[in-house]
Amino acid sequence: MKRYNDFFGSFGGRYVAEMLRAPLDDLQEAFLQAAADPAFTRELEETLRDFAGRPTPLLKAENATRELGGASIYIKLEGLANTGAHKINNAVGQAMLARRMGKTRIIAETGAGQHGVATAAVCARLGIPCRVYMGEVDMRRQRPNVFWMERYGAEVVSVTTGSATLKDAVNEALRDWAASFPTTHYLLGSALGPSPYPDMVREFQSVIGRELALQLREKGVDCAALVACVGGGSNAIGFFSAFLESDSPVLIGVEAGGRGSGPGQHAARMNGRGRAGIVQGYKSLFLADSDGQLLSTHSISAGLDYPGIGPQLAHLGEEGRIKFTTASDSEALDAVQFFARTEGLVFALESAHAAAEVMRIARDYPREKSLVVNMSGRGDKDLFILARALDPDRWTAFLREEAAR
Ligand SMILES: Cc1ncc(COP(=O)(O)O)c(C=O)c1O
Repeated sequence: MKRYNDFFGSFGGRYVAEMLRAPLDDLQEAFLQAAADPAFTRELEETLRDFAGRPTPLLKAENATRELGGASIYIKLEGLANTGAHKINNAVGQAMLARRMGKTRIIAETGAGQHGVATAAVCARLGIPCRVYMGEVDMRRQRPNVFWMERYGAEVVSVTTGSATLKDAVNEALRDWAASFPTTHYLLGSALGPSPYPDMVREFQSVIGRELALQLREKGVDCAALVACVGGGSNAIGFFSAFLESDSPVLIGVEAGGRGSGPGQHAARMNGRGRAGIVQGYKSLFLADSDGQLLSTHSISAGLDYPGIGPQLAHLGEEGRIKFTTASDSEALDAVQFFARTEGLVFALESAHAAAEVMRIARDYPREKSLVVNMSGRGDKDLFILARALDPDRWTAFLREEAAR
């Protein structure tokens, strides 16, 4: 465990109602004790290996490298972990912590549904009842994940307030927790929220970066840059974690460029777009108007469609250690198709934003240099969105036939 942080520069903190201070103190204490307990870390490692399927492979993408013509492309296949994304790393860690704290119920929020699915799966395994809050809009666009959460035995609660997306699901989960914390753990899914969540989630996700550092050494890869998509920031900070204290490789976070740069058209908070503010218990950069009211956001990927960014990433962005860029909806769709065709891998729409950046910059580097992209999830969950975008006529006909049966 690295040093525990409440703040990252001026970002982070614990801006919550008085009643949530004690449960957050308890959580911080339990987390620090667990992290220092070899029995906990051993069981965590075993569970990540046997249940989550770690380590995830680092694949050399030979065909993509050849077609793009430039740097060698490597892909860290988090999408091969059980439940299909990196979200399982944090869900396993926090669920084990909740059990250790004697909690008998777990709640979570979810956007794309990957965090909800991961949490529901871990709860099924540990025998802990689970409720997942999900925006109504996200339930519609990520229906397969709703189906799987329910199969794992979770209750999925549709959130209809606000924009009915991830930020509203977080609000509902916080509301539930304020009334239920003596028995309930709030298993937050990204590296944001009040302290200790950003630090704790990063630690549980840092397994990605530790594995990657080892795999790069074993394969003798000369890595020029790491590229990850950024919603709240958990896959990116976990992926980058082992490299934050050195000057190289270049670290690139890719936000959702959506369908344009106007308000409500994207979810890109860095590079001067976000304003400093305090929302949902933490200080960071948020897409907000001059009165501090959150703006609506848009992304084709539900998991990147959130107005705030994790405080450590905001800080590292301002310090210049992480560079931020955006990929648009259509660039993400192109990247999904490119890697499916060249490598037989379907990126989740979230991760495809990172893949799109790799496609853009590959030619800036010679072949001896490598770019590593984090495939934070696989795109099975996106079937309905992808099919409607890429094969609309046959897909609609198929759905009509199914509905008529
Ligand atoms: C596959 C995948 N990647 C990335 C994200 C974005 O979250 P984060 O920025 O916390 O990694 C999500 C969120 O649901 C996701 O499902």
